[in-house]
Amino acid sequence: MNSIHSAIVMGATSGIGLEVARLLALRGWKVGVAGRREEILTKMVAETEGIVAYEVMDVTTPHAIDGLHKLIHKLGGIDLYFHSSGIGYHNTSLEASKELSTIETNCLGMARLVGEAFRYFEQHPEQTGQIAVISSIARTKGLGAAPAYSASKRFTSHYLESLCQLTRIKGLRHIHISDIRPGFVKTPLIEGSNFPMQLDVTKTAALIVAGVERKKAVITVNWLYRLLVFFWQMIPRCVWVRMSIS
Ligand SMILES: NC(=O)c1ccc[n+]([C@@H]2O[C@H](COP(=O)([O-])OP(=O)(O)OC[C@H]3O[C@@H](n4cnc5c(N)ncnc54)[C@H](OP(=O)(O)O)[C@@H]3O)[C@@H](O)[C@H]2O)c1
Repeated sequence: MNSIHSAIVMGATSGIGLEVARLLALRGWKVGVAGRREEILTKMVAETEGIVAYEVMDVTTPHAIDGLHKLIHKLGGIDLYFHSSGIGYHNTSLEASKELSTIETNCLGMARLVGEAFRYFEQHPEQTGQIAVISSIARTKGLGAAPAYSASKRFTSHYLESLCQLTRIKGLRHIHISDIRPGFVKTPLIEGSNFPMQLDVTKTAALIVAGVERKKAVITVNWLYRLLVFFWQMIPRCVWVRMSIS
C-alpha cells in the first residue's frame, strides 16, 4: 500500500476477525480492534505492530456506537470498517435464548454498527470509505439445523445489498460495500463440529483481505464453495425443505 490507511475490525478477539486484523496490520494498515474481551484486545495492541488502539464493545448494546466513534477518533479517522462479530448455534431444539441472541448479535448488532459506519462515511465525502461485513454461505438457503443463524446471514447479505444500492441513490460513490461469504472455517465458532470442507483461518483471512483491498462487492471464500453455492441455490424450495440436512 502506498499511503497509510486506517481500519476498524469489530469482532477482532477471535477467529476470522483476529486473523484479518493481524494481516491488515502486517500489510501496513493502521488498525483499531474491538470486541467484548478486553484482555485479548490489550494484548493485541501490545504485541502487534500496526494494531494501535482498541475499544471494548458489545454490539448488542445501544452505546456500542459511542465506542465506535471513540475508536474512530483514536485512529484519526478510518477508511475501512470491517465487521466480523457474530455468533451461531446448531439449534434443532429451537432453544429460544439461542435463536434470539443470534438475531440480536447478527442482525440488530450488525445493523447498529454498520449503519453508524455508513453514516460516518457519508459525512466524510473527502475520503474513500469501505464497509466489509462477514455474512456466510449459510445465507443461501434456510437451514433447519440453524434457523436463526441462516436467516441472520440472509438478513446481513440483503442489508449490504440495500446499502450498496443506497450509495447509488444518494450518489455516494466514495463508499464501497463488501459482502464476505465464507464456507466453513476452522475457528472457535464451529469447534467440535464435524462439518466438511473446513478452511484454514489464516488462508481464509488472506483471501478476504485481498478481496477487501480490491473493494470487491461480494467475496465468496473459496472457489470450491463458489461452485457449491452455484448449485445449492438452484435447488427448488419444494425439494430443499424435504432434504434432511443437520
Ligand atoms: N467459522 C465459520 O465457519 C464461519 C463461516 C461463515 C461465516 N462466519 C462468520 O464469520 C464471523 C466471525 O466468526 P468466527 O468464525 O471468526 O467466530 P469466532 O472465532 O467465534 O469469533 C467471533 C467474534 O465475534 C465477536 N462477538 C461475538 N459477540 C459479540 C458481541 N455481542 N459484541 C461484539 N463482538 C462480538 C467475538 O468477540 P468477543 O467474544 O470478544 O466479543 C469474536 O471476536 C461471524 O459473523 C460468523 O458468523 C464464520
